[in-house]
Amino acid sequence: MKLTIKAGTILLASALCAQASAQTIKVGVVLSMSGPNATLGETMDRAIKLYMKLHQLPPGVKVEIITRDDGGPNPDKAKQLSQELIVRDKIQFLTGMIFTPNAMASAPLSTEAKVPMVIMNAGTSAITTMSPYIVRLSFTLWQSSLPMGTWAGKKYKTAYIATSDYGPGHDAEAAFTKGFTDAGGKIVGNVRMPLANPDFVPFMQRVKDSKPDVVFAFVPAGKQATAIMKAYGELGLDKAGIKFIGPGDITPDDELANMGDEALGVLTMFHYSAAANRPANKAFVAAWQKEYGASAVPNFLSVGAWDSMDAIYHAIREQNGKIDPDKSMDLLKRYKNPNSPRGPISVDPETRDIVQNEYLREVRKVGGKLENVELETLETAVKDPWKIINNKK
Ligand code: PHB
Repeated sequence: MKLTIKAGTILLASALCAQASAQTIKVGVVLSMSGPNATLGETMDRAIKLYMKLHQLPPGVKVEIITRDDGGPNPDKAKQLSQELIVRDKIQFLTGMIFTPNAMASAPLSTEAKVPMVIMNAGTSAITTMSPYIVRLSFTLWQSSLPMGTWAGKKYKTAYIATSDYGPGHDAEAAFTKGFTDAGGKIVGNVRMPLANPDFVPFMQRVKDSKPDVVFAFVPAGKQATAIMKAYGELGLDKAGIKFIGPGDITPDDELANMGDEALGVLTMFHYSAAANRPANKAFVAAWQKEYGASAVPNFLSVGAWDSMDAIYHAIREQNGKIDPDKSMDLLKRYKNPNSPRGPISVDPETRDIVQNEYLREVRKVGGKLENVELETLETAVKDPWKIINNKK
């Protein structure tokens, strides 16, 4: 009897010891890995893997990534996956979240369970107001589309707006309208296009018929961006003298090769281009191509995932692997990196939203390849304008 107790005690003691020497932090990642938006999830998955390969944690601290596929903009599915990750897998961080509806559906869970949720992509401004446990490392559509409107309003007289009919599209539309009209421009038409399986040709025909100086568009990056670019080219809007402009979502770096020369001359405002000359970006792209091949190109979703992992690693490192959700939030909302591939970034502790530069870019051919060439840094350290205008935290 005595012996049995001793053996049990020893077993328990050694189990506790093993736990102390090997902390495993579980990170749940909800991404779109299948269906028409699969390329978005895949590039982020690649970024997560590469980040982990190239970065260290304190001795004995490990990160276990648990990735789940939401299949695209599916709020119910995303919520179910987030719930399973929180309840069954007992994750300490929830991340990923490409599509706004998915992030919004998961937001209440992060509040209830006190699990920090690091948004790697979803860009509707209001998302961060939906839980005190949300921090965003990606962008907002207001950050890009307001300065795009202001810039374009000084150069062009009339604009037509075409956006996907959901959160980020509505934000892009409102932000561009404000910037463009405040600068003296006139909006001559506006159309909201379906998010699921859109055929862009009829919409681009309407734009062509109304003969604006510019068409400002937002669609989610990936295959939709290539499809709207093709419709713009095939209907000859460029030859009709209608300039194509938008947030950088419409010219994702890795889709430019699929778009072809129709994309030449398209002007966008954005926080990241794979063609940027910053040393941190050169190093990032070189590491990417070493890992994934010389023709592989990362995009803003890759960088959103990369920087989110850096913020999560920072929170883990600072707590030496012993994770407390409120301490994690405190560290995440004060996160700063002067040297991200996109330039200096930080999180605004008041809003838990990303602060970053906005660059004006033009699609040009460089060495035979299409690139988003950064023309100028239009604004530095841009906070989400929607929160400033509407006094939201
Ligand atoms: C979003 O759903 O918030 C979203 C998706 C794709 C983008 C931008 C925003 O390119």
